[in-house]
Amino acid sequence: MLCKCWYDCSWKQISRTNSNDTFDNWNNTYHRWNNYSLIISQKYWKKEKRHMNTPFKFIKKKLADELPSELLNIVPDKWEKIGEVLVLKLDDKLSDYKKIIGETYANFLNCKTVLNDIGGITGILRKPDVEIIYGNSDTVTVHKENNVRYRLDPQKVMFSSGNMDERKRMSRISKPDEVVVDMFAGIGYFTLPIAVHSKPKKIYACEKNPISFDFLRENIVLNNVVDIVEPLPGDNRKIAPKGVADRAIMGYIGDTQRFLPTAFRCLKDIGVIHFHDKYPEKQVPKNPLETIKKEAEKYNLKTKMLNYRKVKSFAPGINHYVFDLKVEKK
Ligand SMILES: C[S@@+](CC[C@H](N)C(=O)[O-])C[C@H]1O[C@@H](n2cnc3c(N)ncnc32)[C@H](O)[C@@H]1O
Repeated sequence: MLCKCWYDCSWKQISRTNSNDTFDNWNNTYHRWNNYSLIISQKYWKKEKRHMNTPFKFIKKKLADELPSELLNIVPDKWEKIGEVLVLKLDDKLSDYKKIIGETYANFLNCKTVLNDIGGITGILRKPDVEIIYGNSDTVTVHKENNVRYRLDPQKVMFSSGNMDERKRMSRISKPDEVVVDMFAGIGYFTLPIAVHSKPKKIYACEKNPISFDFLRENIVLNNVVDIVEPLPGDNRKIAPKGVADRAIMGYIGDTQRFLPTAFRCLKDIGVIHFHDKYPEKQVPKNPLETIKKEAEKYNLKTKMLNYRKVKSFAPGINHYVFDLKVEKK
């Protein structure tokens, strides 16, 4: 019965699921199941998880009938579930068994399609490199998180489950009288939670990728935030409004500093920027802060760090960070 609950996905949605920490992630959360709610205490799961059958254990057991034992050990124990679409990263050695692997995960995790992540997310427009290994070729889906609905096609646009905590943090950060510029809005990763939960006066959401932009427009309607969010298609360096913002979000990784002049131009005399990029652990926060400060000085601005946090690991020793900075005219 417990597994049925997992298949229905009526439990708290978690991001990149690691079968071994599944129960820790679900701790102390309400799980709606047949209209009943229960709280599962941390202590209970910690004690019991050794004996429990996680979804991965069921999947592996089922695949044991289909795969040679040496391959069974390399089937992925992590996955990303985006709405009804599952994304796996399969070792090349599993290529002859892709279909049965996809079918098995789809059945146990209640997904309409299973994608194999071949080459990750690439390019300025952040396009996923994936192939369908099982199921419906229509991969458009609605991912629900924190009372926000994201309609997207995981075959065509990225969705980073690892950024869930940052999306939650941003959802409460803005104030009702604020104007926000989301410089890299995508399908509305930050724009939507801010609009839904903080309800600022206005959010200008800039997005360059036409496919992401179409989903962004749909998502603004889907989440009933048409009166708050104005989607702007194109390169933020050309289209972002000037001198209007109390807050600018720079949710981009890879040389984000190139876009600092645009962020500075968006702001009123005083404002906050949320600057994202990846850095080696040892350089943080010194190097990025120096870079931002130097750039700000060129525009006669001073900066003060309010906060910084690791968003997620990127590679060994390298993490994705976000820096919250107050920016003010000197
Ligand atoms: C990395 S994604 C956004 C990720 C998001 N912040 C998250 O938390 O998952 C960056 C988005 O910025 C868009 N983009 C890249 N360069 C841009 C530019 N110069 N102007 C506007 N959008 C841009 C890409 O198309 C992509 O949708």
